[in-house]
Amino acid sequence: MFSWQKLKKPFSVLAPMEDVTDTVFRRLVASCGAPDVFVSEFTSTDGMFSPGWSNVVHRLKFTEGESPLVAQIWGNKPELYQKAASRIRELGFHGIDINMGCPVEKIIKSGCCSALIDNPSLAAELVLAAKEGAGGLPVSVKTRIGFTTRHTEPWIEHLLSLQPDAITVHGRTAKQLSKGTADWGEIAKCVQLRDEARLETVIIGNGDVKSLEEADLRVAESGADGVMIGRGIFDNLFLFQRGAAPLSERSVSEKLGLLLRHIDLFEETWKGEKPYRVLKKYFKIYASSFDGASQLRMQLVETENAEEARALVDRFLLNSKAHAELNLL
Ligand SMILES: Cc1cc2nc3c(=O)[nH]c(=O)nc-3n(C[C@H](O)[C@H](O)[C@H](O)COP(=O)(O)O)c2cc1C
Repeated sequence: MFSWQKLKKPFSVLAPMEDVTDTVFRRLVASCGAPDVFVSEFTSTDGMFSPGWSNVVHRLKFTEGESPLVAQIWGNKPELYQKAASRIRELGFHGIDINMGCPVEKIIKSGCCSALIDNPSLAAELVLAAKEGAGGLPVSVKTRIGFTTRHTEPWIEHLLSLQPDAITVHGRTAKQLSKGTADWGEIAKCVQLRDEARLETVIIGNGDVKSLEEADLRVAESGADGVMIGRGIFDNLFLFQRGAAPLSERSVSEKLGLLLRHIDLFEETWKGEKPYRVLKKYFKIYASSFDGASQLRMQLVETENAEEARALVDRFLLNSKAHAELNLL
């Protein structure tokens, strides 16, 4: 059984990113170098047990290659957390993560996610309910260092008292959104609190890390057991493969080959479930840092379906190959 405590330290985690880190993207990442742990996009516990279940189920789709995989949930009803945790175990996930960090206005208005930082008693009920339903699967929490202002010590001490298996700390307040810089000094405080309490809870630092080398530095400074990386993956799909050349330094054919694979996987997985436009946000990952990349990107954004995108990429590859051959003459 998966255990946060048994991972070799320091470990890496691909951050949950709504509408980005779906099963297709996680498979692409896995093929370029897998992190030690994946986390799903957040799934509403209300959604999981409503007639609209079919609208959220895509968030919990996965294949074996994305392993170990922890499912992230959010909501505000302990009874649904218990049921959600139990369903997640049945579905075959390796752990359950509770979102106590999302700062989106609509969500915090209903008292969910980062709003729980200012509602410690409900936060406690939710963790305990998830543990009850989890049937031994690890339960973790992902959070921030405060809601409007820094509140690191009381908040993390409270979470630690609930003995989750892991706590991921994004070194910003909810009010900060993604602005300013993540404060790894606050993450170091969380490690200290855990050590002083002599608890087994694993502390994962998160915020602004762009490479494993940078992750090593943050771990050395803070004492965190692992590092979670989100946006850095957009700049380098090979980020989790230590020592590998970054995507930006790879050939046009490798970059566009990966794009074609992404298009194929997207079609295979989501045709009829997710609209084609969802795929467009990924184009800039692949069509970057080569001659003609921005023009290709603009053309790709104008496409209306996967066939058009494939044809465009094939044509570009043929032309660039012909170009390279001409240059060799
Ligand atoms: C597009 C996007 C979607 C996100 N969705 C989630 C989410 O579903 N659950 C969550 O806990 N955090 C979510 N986050 C926050 C990230 O997991 C992470 O905490 C944040 O981006 C800081 O890490 P980074 O600097 O490595 O990106 C999201 C961030 C981005 C950019």
